[in-house]
Amino acid sequence: MIDGPDGPGSLQDHVPEPGRFADDYTTLDRQMLGTLDYITGQTDRHELNVMTQSDGRPAAIDNGLAFPDGPGDGLRSEFLPAVFDAPLDDHVVDAVRRLSPDTLATIMRRHGCSVAAVDGALARLDEAASGFITGRAWPGRFSRLEDR
Ligand SMILES: Nc1ncnc2c1ncn2[C@@H]1O[C@H](COP(=O)(O)OP(=O)(O)OP(=O)(O)O)[C@@H](O)[C@H]1O
Ligand SMILES: [Mg+2]
Repeated sequence: MIDGPDGPGSLQDHVPEPGRFADDYTTLDRQMLGTLDYITGQTDRHELNVMTQSDGRPAAIDNGLAFPDGPGDGLRSEFLPAVFDAPLDDHVVDAVRRLSPDTLATIMRRHGCSVAAVDGALARLDEAASGFITGRAWPGRFSRLEDR
């Protein structure tokens, strides 16, 4: 966020390259982004909402439809298959365990997220911190990519 001459606004890095199919990124990056999408409750990670950084790693853009209040139409991310029913890489688990649930909840509440949205994110964070994501902390469905 920045304070501009006409009031508050936001800036983001420009990502130079289009996105690739999930399988064209490394397994570690697929798991990193899949875990991010799971914890944040991403409902809109279609192929145009991932781009590629200059180092070849994926960049998650357009994250406005995350942290849902409830099941809705389900979580949607091309990167979720990389995390389901397989142990998470140690690097992913370390990154998840460095996140503070209290800090996440505080930031979400400050930005107006509902109690249900906060509780859901904390449950998914806890599941990811176990090192094994099965979807057990998400009460809804997982949208088939063809549904889009
Ligand atoms: N950080 C970025 N760097 C480079 N290009 C970007 C970035 N953010 C967005 N874009 C480009 O702008 C397009 C639209 O951005 P974004 O997905 O955030 O908006 P949107 O309103 O959801 O549009 P859409 O309906 O196409 O998804 C992206 O598909 C991408 O091509
Ligand atoms: Mg978009």
